[in-house]
Amino acid sequence: MMRIGVLASGRGSNLQALIEAWKHGELNGELVAVGSDKEGALALKRAEEAGIPHATFPLSHFPSRKEQENAILNWLLEQKVELLALAGFMKVLSKEFLHDIQIPILNIHPSLLPSFQGLHAQKQALEYGVKISGCTVHFVDEGLDSGPIIAQEAVPVLPEDTEDSLSARILEAEHRIYPEAVGWVSSGRIKRNGRIVVKL
Ligand code: GAR
Repeated sequence: MMRIGVLASGRGSNLQALIEAWKHGELNGELVAVGSDKEGALALKRAEEAGIPHATFPLSHFPSRKEQENAILNWLLEQKVELLALAGFMKVLSKEFLHDIQIPILNIHPSLLPSFQGLHAQKQALEYGVKISGCTVHFVDEGLDSGPIIAQEAVPVLPEDTEDSLSARILEAEHRIYPEAVGWVSSGRIKRNGRIVVKL
Protein backbone atom coordinates (compact mmCIF):
# COMPACT_ATOMS: atom_id res chain seq x y z
CA MET A 1 0.00 0.00 0.00
CA MET A 2 1.51 3.30 -1.04
CA ARG A 3 1.66 6.00 1.63
CA ILE A 4 -0.06 9.09 0.23
CA GLY A 5 0.28 12.64 1.56
CA VAL A 6 -1.88 15.62 0.64
CA LEU A 7 -1.15 19.36 0.79
CA ALA A 8 -4.16 21.67 0.79
CA SER A 9 -4.65 25.38 1.50
CA GLY A 10 -8.42 25.71 1.74
CA ARG A 11 -11.80 24.05 1.55
CA GLY A 12 -10.40 20.59 0.83
CA SER A 13 -13.22 19.17 -1.27
CA ASN A 14 -10.68 17.32 -3.43
CA LEU A 15 -9.10 15.97 -0.25
CA GLN A 16 -12.57 14.78 0.75
CA ALA A 17 -12.96 13.00 -2.62
CA LEU A 18 -9.62 11.27 -1.95
CA ILE A 19 -10.77 10.33 1.57
CA GLU A 20 -14.00 8.80 0.20
CA ALA A 21 -12.09 6.80 -2.43
CA TRP A 22 -9.63 5.60 0.23
CA LYS A 23 -12.44 4.54 2.59
CA HIS A 24 -14.03 2.61 -0.30
CA GLY A 25 -10.73 0.86 -1.03
CA GLU A 26 -10.40 2.60 -4.41
CA LEU A 27 -7.14 4.49 -3.87
CA ASN A 28 -4.60 1.65 -3.94
CA GLY A 29 -2.93 3.37 -1.05
CA GLU A 30 -3.52 4.97 2.31
CA LEU A 31 -3.78 8.62 3.24
CA VAL A 32 -1.16 9.13 5.93
CA ALA A 33 -0.58 12.89 6.10
CA VAL A 34 -2.40 16.14 5.35
CA GLY A 35 -0.42 19.36 5.52
CA SER A 36 -1.60 22.93 5.10
CA ASP A 37 -0.02 26.37 4.91
CA LYS A 38 -3.24 27.95 6.24
CA GLU A 39 -4.32 27.81 9.87
CA GLY A 40 -7.97 26.82 10.22
CA ALA A 41 -8.27 25.46 6.67
CA LEU A 42 -11.36 23.28 6.30
CA ALA A 43 -9.07 20.64 4.78
CA LEU A 44 -7.48 20.15 8.23
CA LYS A 45 -10.89 19.53 9.80
CA ARG A 46 -11.64 16.94 7.13
CA ALA A 47 -8.31 15.22 7.88
CA GLU A 48 -9.08 15.27 11.61
CA GLU A 49 -12.51 13.71 11.03
CA ALA A 50 -11.00 11.01 8.83
CA GLY A 51 -8.33 10.24 11.46
CA ILE A 52 -5.43 11.30 9.22
CA PRO A 53 -2.33 12.85 10.87
CA HIS A 54 -2.27 16.53 9.94
CA ALA A 55 -0.12 19.59 10.49
CA THR A 56 -0.16 23.31 9.74
CA PHE A 57 2.76 25.39 8.51
CA PRO A 58 1.70 29.06 8.43
CA LEU A 59 4.27 31.35 6.84
CA SER A 60 4.07 33.66 9.88
CA HIS A 61 5.66 30.91 12.03
CA PHE A 62 8.82 30.81 9.92
CA PRO A 63 11.60 33.30 9.18
CA SER A 64 11.27 32.71 5.43
CA ARG A 65 9.35 30.79 2.76
CA LYS A 66 12.37 28.54 2.39
CA GLU A 67 12.18 27.48 6.04
CA GLN A 68 8.43 26.98 5.81
CA GLU A 69 8.93 24.69 2.83
CA ASN A 70 11.74 22.80 4.58
CA ALA A 71 9.47 22.15 7.55
CA ILE A 72 6.77 20.77 5.21
CA LEU A 73 9.35 18.60 3.44
CA ASN A 74 10.78 17.21 6.68
CA TRP A 75 7.32 16.44 8.05
CA LEU A 76 6.29 14.59 4.88
CA LEU A 77 9.52 12.58 5.02
CA GLU A 78 8.92 11.78 8.71
CA GLN A 79 5.46 10.46 7.76
CA LYS A 80 7.19 8.32 5.10
CA VAL A 81 5.02 9.70 2.33
CA GLU A 82 5.67 7.97 -1.01
CA LEU A 83 3.26 9.95 -3.22
CA LEU A 84 2.19 13.55 -2.74
CA ALA A 85 -1.11 14.96 -4.02
CA LEU A 86 -1.63 18.73 -4.11
CA ALA A 87 -5.30 19.50 -3.57
CA GLY A 88 -5.88 23.24 -3.81
CA PHE A 89 -2.42 23.95 -2.41
CA MET A 90 -1.90 27.53 -3.48
CA LYS A 91 1.89 27.70 -3.24
CA VAL A 92 4.35 26.86 -5.99
CA LEU A 93 6.86 24.33 -4.69
CA SER A 94 10.51 25.23 -5.27
CA LYS A 95 12.92 23.38 -7.52
CA GLU A 96 14.86 22.34 -4.39
CA PHE A 97 11.75 20.85 -2.76
CA LEU A 98 10.98 18.81 -5.89
CA HIS A 99 14.57 17.61 -6.05
CA ASP A 100 14.86 16.77 -2.34
CA ILE A 101 11.57 14.91 -1.89
CA GLN A 102 12.22 12.40 -4.68
CA ILE A 103 8.64 11.10 -4.86
CA PRO A 104 5.96 11.65 -7.50
CA ILE A 105 3.87 14.79 -6.93
CA LEU A 106 0.44 15.23 -8.53
CA ASN A 107 -1.70 18.34 -8.89
CA ILE A 108 -5.30 19.00 -9.89
CA HIS A 109 -5.96 22.17 -11.88
CA PRO A 110 -9.36 23.60 -12.89
CA SER A 111 -8.78 23.97 -16.64
CA LEU A 112 -7.86 21.86 -19.63
CA LEU A 113 -4.12 22.47 -19.52
CA PRO A 114 -2.09 23.89 -21.17
CA SER A 115 -4.87 26.51 -21.37
CA PHE A 116 -5.39 28.83 -18.42
CA GLN A 117 -2.48 28.06 -16.12
CA GLY A 118 -2.10 29.80 -12.77
CA LEU A 119 -4.70 31.49 -10.62
CA HIS A 120 -8.41 31.97 -11.44
CA ALA A 121 -8.39 29.44 -14.28
CA GLN A 122 -12.21 29.37 -14.47
CA LYS A 123 -12.39 33.19 -14.77
CA GLN A 124 -9.68 33.08 -17.44
CA ALA A 125 -11.75 30.52 -19.39
CA LEU A 126 -14.91 32.65 -19.19
CA GLU A 127 -13.06 35.80 -20.23
CA TYR A 128 -11.43 34.03 -23.16
CA GLY A 129 -14.81 32.77 -24.33
CA VAL A 130 -14.04 29.05 -24.66
CA LYS A 131 -17.08 26.80 -25.01
CA ILE A 132 -15.45 23.81 -23.32
CA SER A 133 -13.29 23.80 -20.20
CA GLY A 134 -12.57 21.17 -17.57
CA CYS A 135 -9.87 19.94 -15.26
CA THR A 136 -6.46 18.29 -15.45
CA VAL A 137 -4.44 16.01 -13.18
CA HIS A 138 -0.73 16.28 -13.92
CA PHE A 139 2.66 15.46 -12.48
CA VAL A 140 4.27 18.50 -10.90
CA ASP A 141 7.46 19.74 -12.49
CA GLU A 142 9.44 22.94 -12.08
CA GLY A 143 7.06 25.03 -14.17
CA LEU A 144 3.63 26.47 -13.39
CA ASP A 145 0.93 23.83 -14.10
CA SER A 146 3.20 22.49 -16.82
CA GLY A 147 4.02 18.86 -15.91
CA PRO A 148 3.05 15.73 -17.87
CA ILE A 149 -0.73 15.22 -18.04
CA ILE A 150 -2.27 12.11 -16.44
CA ALA A 151 -6.01 12.71 -16.82
CA GLN A 152 -8.46 15.33 -18.05
CA GLU A 153 -12.22 15.74 -18.09
CA ALA A 154 -14.05 18.29 -20.21
CA VAL A 155 -17.20 20.17 -19.20
CA PRO A 156 -19.30 22.60 -21.26
CA VAL A 157 -19.13 26.34 -20.66
CA LEU A 158 -22.71 27.62 -20.84
CA PRO A 159 -23.72 31.11 -22.04
CA GLU A 160 -25.24 31.94 -18.65
CA ASP A 161 -22.22 30.73 -16.64
CA THR A 162 -20.68 32.80 -13.89
CA GLU A 163 -17.30 32.04 -12.38
CA ASP A 164 -19.12 30.26 -9.54
CA SER A 165 -21.36 28.09 -11.73
CA LEU A 166 -18.50 27.07 -14.01
CA SER A 167 -16.25 26.37 -11.01
CA ALA A 168 -18.93 24.14 -9.46
CA ARG A 169 -19.35 22.14 -12.71
CA ILE A 170 -15.57 21.72 -13.04
CA LEU A 171 -15.26 20.76 -9.36
CA GLU A 172 -17.63 17.80 -9.83
CA ALA A 173 -15.33 16.55 -12.59
CA GLU A 174 -12.27 17.13 -10.36
CA HIS A 175 -13.78 14.89 -7.70
CA ARG A 176 -14.17 12.12 -10.30
CA ILE A 177 -10.75 12.23 -11.96
CA TYR A 178 -8.43 13.05 -9.05
CA PRO A 179 -9.03 9.90 -6.95
CA GLU A 180 -8.93 7.82 -10.12
CA ALA A 181 -5.62 9.31 -11.28
CA VAL A 182 -4.05 9.05 -7.81
CA GLY A 183 -5.10 5.38 -7.80
CA TRP A 184 -3.46 4.79 -11.18
CA VAL A 185 -0.17 6.26 -9.98
CA SER A 186 -0.21 4.57 -6.58
CA SER A 187 -0.86 1.18 -8.18
CA GLY A 188 1.86 1.68 -10.79
CA ARG A 189 -0.66 1.53 -13.66
CA ILE A 190 0.95 4.54 -15.32
CA LYS A 191 3.71 4.49 -17.89
CA ARG A 192 5.57 7.70 -18.56
CA ASN A 193 7.60 8.41 -21.65
CA GLY A 194 8.83 11.98 -21.29
CA ARG A 195 5.73 14.18 -21.38
CA ILE A 196 3.45 11.37 -22.50
CA VAL A 197 1.68 9.45 -19.73
CA VAL A 198 -0.40 6.39 -20.51
CA LYS A 199 -2.52 4.20 -18.30
CA LEU A 200 -1.62 0.53 -18.74
C1 GAR B 1 -9.85 23.28 -6.98
O1 GAR B 1 -10.73 23.79 -7.95
C2 GAR B 1 -8.48 23.05 -7.57
O2 GAR B 1 -8.53 22.58 -8.89
C3 GAR B 1 -7.91 24.44 -7.52
O3 GAR B 1 -8.31 24.94 -6.26
C4 GAR B 1 -9.54 24.35 -5.92
C5 GAR B 1 -9.41 23.73 -4.55
O4 GAR B 1 -10.65 23.27 -4.08
N1 GAR B 1 -6.48 24.43 -7.65
C6 GAR B 1 -5.81 25.35 -8.32
O5 GAR B 1 -6.32 26.31 -8.86
C7 GAR B 1 -4.32 25.11 -8.37
N2 GAR B 1 -3.71 25.93 -9.36
P1 GAR B 1 -10.74 22.29 -2.85
O6 GAR B 1 -9.94 22.97 -1.72
O7 GAR B 1 -12.19 22.26 -2.52
O8 GAR B 1 -10.17 20.98 -3.24
